[in-house]
Amino acid sequence: MSTVFVLNGPNLNLLGTREPAIYGSTTLADIEALCRAEAGKHGLSVDFRQSNLEGVLVDWIHEAGKAFAAGTLKGVVFNAGAYTHTSLALADATKATGIPLVEVHISNVHAREPVRHHSFLSPVARGIIVGFGPLGYALGIAALASLTA
Ligand code: DQA
Repeated sequence: MSTVFVLNGPNLNLLGTREPAIYGSTTLADIEALCRAEAGKHGLSVDFRQSNLEGVLVDWIHEAGKAFAAGTLKGVVFNAGAYTHTSLALADATKATGIPLVEVHISNVHAREPVRHHSFLSPVARGIIVGFGPLGYALGIAALASLTA
């Protein structure tokens, strides 16, 4: 069975209690369950991870690139959290590996502070899903499944 990586960046482990007016009450464990259910519909398995460390996320993108090259990975759904707006390293890693990556944000970052309007990942992402809450993760998985079907 082919796999999709679902990667989560800093502070997303706090979903459920973190700024519920913006991010809602859904926990990261709830989102993992949602991702597994969506992936199952497409015959895919999910490797679901979260880290607060930029370098760990870079390493996971590299790992995804190797799995993609080996034909065992369809792509990556990535909510990089605040690193979206700061990390050239994550963009470089994505570009270097050539993996199909769907950038996901729970909130509509374009309706928030100007600092959140720029993304280092968007230019290297296959597509972008913002503002649909946790549903965005499922939409990202469906998009990857349809791209590579
Ligand atoms: C976020 C949006 C980012 O601006 C923020 O730093 C996050 C979460 C989102 O999912 O809406 O941590 O990626």
